[in-house]
Amino acid sequence: MAASVDVRNLEHAYGAHRVVRGMSFALAPGRIGCLLGPSGCGKTTVLRCLAGFEPVLGGEIALSGRVVSKLDLQVPPEKRGIGMVFQDYALFPHLSVAKNVAFGLSRMAIDKADARAAAMLELVGLAAAHDTYPHELSGGQQQRVALARALAPAPDLLLLDEPFSNLDIDLRERLSLEVRAILKKAGTTAILVTHDQHEAFSLADEIGIIKDGTIEQWDSAYNLYHRPRTRFVADFVGQACSCGASPNGAVAWSPNWANSQANGPFPSPRAVRSTCCCVPTISCTTTRARGRPKSLQKRSAAPSFYTR
Ligand SMILES: Nc1ncnc2c1ncn2[C@@H]1O[C@H](COP(=O)(O)OP(=O)(O)OP(=O)(O)O)[C@@H](O)[C@H]1O
Ligand SMILES: [Mg+2]
Repeated sequence: MAASVDVRNLEHAYGAHRVVRGMSFALAPGRIGCLLGPSGCGKTTVLRCLAGFEPVLGGEIALSGRVVSKLDLQVPPEKRGIGMVFQDYALFPHLSVAKNVAFGLSRMAIDKADARAAAMLELVGLAAAHDTYPHELSGGQQQRVALARALAPAPDLLLLDEPFSNLDIDLRERLSLEVRAILKKAGTTAILVTHDQHEAFSLADEIGIIKDGTIEQWDSAYNLYHRPRTRFVADFVGQACSCGASPNGAVAWSPNWANSQANGPFPSPRAVRSTCCCVPTISCTTTRARGRPKSLQKRSAAPSFYTR
């Protein structure tokens, strides 16, 4: 059964190096979350804590309401009902595709395990590759085999650590959409780790932007893009300026804010003015957006402000 995930004030350190600092987020059953952030910010470490490979130094992790990690408790990985897809897929080269997928089903009767493996290969669109070997498959096909293998034991939670990083950009975008469809069909709760925002935006329902081991904002792709709460989030997802305030305190909304106003409630200018931390500026400009057409990717020199 798909798990809910609750991470509360998680702390982790390698020796004196604090890598995860009071991180909190929650995911409902069947939802796909993503930890997005620059290299070295602690994404893999959080996944390893979730999987039970790393002890936690503070806070706790609960899966479906059951605490599995806290300072004095570390439920072993095999008792967490978690599947994992690694960056390099980690397929066994000497086993056929079907045997790779059936590898984690050793407790099942052989005929049932074979049937389950065949069903998983069908799910990922590789039924015809049943008897082939990993080296005979493309990178994208190997990635789907790794996904089928992780889904075969019907994990409550699937963790994916940069699963597309070895693939070219076109394949990466296509596969993220395919993987999303597969996960939704299987109803699995999943957490993806990546530093690629396109991947995060096309695959996840909710995304946490991580900076130095803490989550700056946990939100939908839409809100991260249109309503970034911090400058780091705005820069990371590619929107440098949201709105500006004139010297007399009047707030001018940029086109992006105005456009997005149609799609949901907005804070009043007064509310934003009372919480923002910028120096008032005369102008207001919508600026670059990574991932938009190159013509729109110019960064404005105009100061901008954020609600934190
Ligand atoms: N086993 C370890 N021992 C000591 N330090 C580690 C260990 N694993 C990771 N680190 C350090 O912890 C920090 C976070 O590492 P982590 O692998 O979680 O980052 P990441 O966000 O996954 O990065 P990337 O995007 O490059 O995979 C880094 O500074 C890294 O050097
Ligand atoms: Mg990593």
